Amino acid sequence: EKGGYEHFMLKEINEQPRSIADCMRGRLDANNGRLVLGGLRDYMNKFQNADRIIITACGTSWHAGLVAEYLFEEFARIPVEVEYASEFRYRNPVINEKDFVIAISQSGETADTLAAIELAKSKGATIFGVCNVVGSSIARATHAGSYTHAGPEIGVASTKAFTAQISVLTMMALKLGYQRGTLSENRYMQLLSELETIPSKVERALQLNDKIKEIAAEFKDSRNFLYLGRGYNFPVALEGALKLKEISYIHAEGYPAAEMKHGPIALIDEEMPVVFIATKDSSYEKVVSNIQEVKARKGKIIAVVTEGDTSVKHMADYVIEIPETEEAFVPLISVVPLQQLSYHIAVMRGCNVDQPRNLAKSVTVE
Ligand code: F6R
Repeated sequence: EKGGYEHFMLKEINEQPRSIADCMRGRLDANNGRLVLGGLRDYMNKFQNADRIIITACGTSWHAGLVAEYLFEEFARIPVEVEYASEFRYRNPVINEKDFVIAISQSGETADTLAAIELAKSKGATIFGVCNVVGSSIARATHAGSYTHAGPEIGVASTKAFTAQISVLTMMALKLGYQRGTLSENRYMQLLSELETIPSKVERALQLNDKIKEIAAEFKDSRNFLYLGRGYNFPVALEGALKLKEISYIHAEGYPAAEMKHGPIALIDEEMPVVFIATKDSSYEKVVSNIQEVKARKGKIIAVVTEGDTSVKHMADYVIEIPETEEAFVPLISVVPLQQLSYHIAVMRGCNVDQPRNLAKSVTVE
């Protein structure tokens, strides 16, 4: 049951240190420099020699795919395309035997994703599944796959499945990079060790709950929200906005922060809360200048920053400090306060958090 929590969603948010650890268990052993994904073994050759990786999914799983695009390109230097399954399947896409297709799905039953798989399969591509539900239709339709092992996700809004998907995709990218030689032994070992610390860092991030509740109380009556991030945090901005929309029914949009000046900046006034994900990484300085642009237009700023950050503190109305990690692993932590923010806002608005209107846990219609 709900294990003492008021909602499944809150339980599942709080389970993430464990679900991420479960996902890595038996696969990652940083001390011995080992990373084994059983499902990948027979297809490693194909994966390593792929001309291109195509990722297909819907919704939150598609956001995990966007994170994976950054991971695969950075660590393995293979071009990646991330496709909404519903667009991909109807577009007569160019696919061939040298393509490695990764389908991501929590439920394993999403109709559009399943149809995209069948299409890619018919063109001779290799299909790899990243699913949570064991024995699901998508798990059965793929050539091989790795389960996310997040445990049952009951809340309609996906939380722990998302971080487990990213965990699997991260392990795949590191393995691929190491095998292809695009990632040096040293760097590989370093990354494996850091990856192992993620569950405890997520645990620390979860302790910000009370602070986030205060922020939620402040903004629960807002009519719009903007979420901005760059690089690895761009997909996190999309995911934060989706979480808010689906359970609180507040209109929210996620954007890459640099795109703001190409349109969305026109929306900013003192009524507009803007959530920035501004962790210390290669795009930090750029994000800081985007924050200044919003501030100059009197937008209300909520910033997710790295612990110990001092510059953003002076600009933002609220800061949420999360533990530092490798840039590539930040989404696993930075998404957590955004899940909590949407949860608390929805509860304060009296919404049915676990079963939002118009939504189903598995979308088996196209
Ligand atoms: C968001 C959400 C949906 C699903 C999407 C794909 O919280 O739940 O956007 O992510 O319907 O579902 P799966 O991953 O089951 O294919």
